Amino acid sequence: MKWYKIPGIENSDKPFIKKVKAGSKSVCLVGYEGKIFALSAKCPHAGGDLSAGWCKDDKLICPLHRYSYDIHTGKGSTGQNDYVDVFPVEVRGDGIYIGVEGFWEKIKKGFS
Ligand code: FES
Repeated sequence: MKWYKIPGIENSDKPFIKKVKAGSKSVCLVGYEGKIFALSAKCPHAGGDLSAGWCKDDKLICPLHRYSYDIHTGKGSTGQNDYVDVFPVEVRGDGIYIGVEGFWEKIKKGFS
């Protein structure tokens, strides 16, 4: 797993939603109830920008058609049958980091 430092983000209790880059991935970084979550920024329904959405009841809601995704697991709400990728977040002494698995790491995991 490769870790990417995300500039311009501070660890605080203030809620926020911001689109950032972690390597080649567009990530929606969500500050929610004092924790930071990282989900894919592209909605799987029709490509909406999840970073333009909002959070409610631990779900990130897409602004286009209101599909919603669990900020912990990325799982779509009942009846959607979809999900968004989630990424691990580490708050380190020098900033916020997002972990991204490489292609081969994902393949290896699939066989283990
Ligand atoms: S594009 Fe996100 S709900 Fe339709």
